[in-house]
Amino acid sequence: GAIGKDGYRHYMEKELHEHPLVIGQTLQRMVDPATRKVVLPELPFSLADVPRAVITACGSAFYAGMIGRYWLEEIARLPVDIDVASELRYRNPPLDRHSLGLLISQSGETADTLAALRALRQTAVHILSVLNVEHSSMARESDAVLGTVAGPEISVASTKAFTAQLTVLACLSIATARARGHLDPLREEELVSALLDLPTRAADALAQHDAVRAMARVVAEARDVLYLGRGSLFPVAMEGALKLKEISYIHAEAYAAGEMKHGPISLIDSSVPIVASAPHTPLFDKTLSNLQEAKARGGRLLVFTDTKGAERVSAIAEQMVVLPHVHDFVTPILQVIPVQMLAYEVAVLKGTDVDQPRNLAKSVTVE
Ligand code: AGP
Repeated sequence: GAIGKDGYRHYMEKELHEHPLVIGQTLQRMVDPATRKVVLPELPFSLADVPRAVITACGSAFYAGMIGRYWLEEIARLPVDIDVASELRYRNPPLDRHSLGLLISQSGETADTLAALRALRQTAVHILSVLNVEHSSMARESDAVLGTVAGPEISVASTKAFTAQLTVLACLSIATARARGHLDPLREEELVSALLDLPTRAADALAQHDAVRAMARVVAEARDVLYLGRGSLFPVAMEGALKLKEISYIHAEAYAAGEMKHGPISLIDSSVPIVASAPHTPLFDKTLSNLQEAKARGGRLLVFTDTKGAERVSAIAEQMVVLPHVHDFVTPILQVIPVQMLAYEVAVLKGTDVDQPRNLAKSVTVE
């Protein structure tokens, strides 16, 4: 194709290495460098008047939406409903005219998401789409588009589009919080600084490839893998499990860390590695005690953490990947990078067709 791999083994590897760049480019569009304030493009409705949002998307874009819900609820105090696009329509959720329909898609062509957009359109909500391909079917049918500046994504497994979606959703959450009167300038400055710091931190995350490869050697031997995370890191676990399934064909399941004891803990033995996202957030102690429960049952712990959590994680984990400690707000954006990289390295060890996994298409245009 016209776009080369620039010396990387696969497009996926190349695109993984574009995380710092695309996060930076997306921020450049949304943050005014002089005032360090989030400035969204002009919208045909006021965020201050939106009583409620419904988010819908498929696959990785859906997991980005789950993290977006976390931020919109936490920072903007906006009630948010979310569902996968292939199911949302059957629920026919009650929405009034001022509600916001928030759609997320890399391609802008996913049939399920487009159908959900059209169904939402009938209830006359405002349709705002977060899209990477800005000239797409979804773009044409939306009231407004927020672009992710990720550039073309060729690998079927999404990587850089995901962090770009999160960057846009983070900025949207800040703008919504301000519009709703839930954000003082000091807090905005704190959140924007955390975002602006991300490209450098993302480059630090990519530099952890040796530790990620060591983890990959354990995962590549497994038949089943359990991914765990809490709060905004639960969708990171879901993204990790999806990515592993997609490209390495190893069965993986993600569970909210606290939910493990309500069922899947019975699966745990030394043949089911546990991949946990456990950086030092306010939820760290709880996640760590869930990991201890798993270890006590013979579970092998492979843990993504940060410099602040590393000492306590090292006491229980068989292997760990240590990222810089960043503001809780942006932690999922940083932590997802090595989780995607793990799936990539496992697929390479397995010798699969990483960029074109079997049975999958880059954009799924059938319902
Ligand atoms: C991600 O790795 C997948 N290939 C898939 O889940 C994808 O995110 C989903 O099909 C949605 O695609 P879209 O963003 O183009 O709408």
